[in-house]
Amino acid sequence: IICGVGSDEIIGLLCHAYAGPGDEVVFTEHGFLMYRIYTQATGATPVSVKERERTTDVDAILAACGPAARLVFLANPNNPTGTMIGLAEIERLAKGLPGGAILVLDGAYAEYVEAYDGGAELATRLPNVFMTRTFSKIYGLGGLRIGWGYGPKAIIDVLNRIRGPFNLSTAQMEAAEAAVRDRDHVDRCRAENTRMRAWLAEALAEKGVPSDTSTANFILARFADEAEAVACDAFLQSQGLIVRRVAGYGLPNCLRITVGDEASCRRIAHAIGQFKAQR
Ligand SMILES: Cc1ncc(COP(=O)(O)O)c(C=O)c1O
Repeated sequence: IICGVGSDEIIGLLCHAYAGPGDEVVFTEHGFLMYRIYTQATGATPVSVKERERTTDVDAILAACGPAARLVFLANPNNPTGTMIGLAEIERLAKGLPGGAILVLDGAYAEYVEAYDGGAELATRLPNVFMTRTFSKIYGLGGLRIGWGYGPKAIIDVLNRIRGPFNLSTAQMEAAEAAVRDRDHVDRCRAENTRMRAWLAEALAEKGVPSDTSTANFILARFADEAEAVACDAFLQSQGLIVRRVAGYGLPNCLRITVGDEASCRRIAHAIGQFKAQR
């Protein structure tokens, strides 16, 4: 295990350690933006792979990985789509990669999925699989900046050689330890998220705003077009409600809506209903 200032730091360390000019770093079309940014910072070439209906397409990733591929980043569940693929598909991907490439399974949202280990077992068994995790999502500690990576010792050794020796404070480590021991918190949040996510998705669909089946703590709400998404965002802001525009992720007609508590979910569904009714 290696700890980082958020899993973001681990992603950065992986790019700096394994990619540089002439190398390629592969990720999916609507993947987390930091994959591209860190890749560019190292001078390597970012390779964006098309998804199928906003879901990871393993065959497309395999087809995109040539001999220059060094890292393949896959957030599972993915942000901002909320979709995920199963472990059998991930294993097929890992086993099909060219020799010099490492599959990085970004498990930032893994805890929201019942009976899913984020790829830990694969990272234990396969030499080219590495997993990142964070305390920023289900643990609610985003501002404290604590993440971790897990995988083959050879990779951890490389990352430790370039990691700043003082990257995490004692306070961060103590908070992380207390959080990881609080299993009731995670179970409660997962159950409540699952319940309200289903409710919210259905409520929005009834108002003419569809979404893919989400496995994370947000819903990617799809609007008719970009203009409608922008207008809805402005309306929500006028009501004091903040959601996330995701045009930067290549999804201009969508808004990412966090699954809050029941009162928040009812409030946002009501507001979106008002917005749709006035159009
Ligand atoms: C998919 C994914 N990976 C990694 C991160 C980085 O999280 P942190 O650095 O807070 O651990 C995020 C944050 O939004 C994310 O959505």
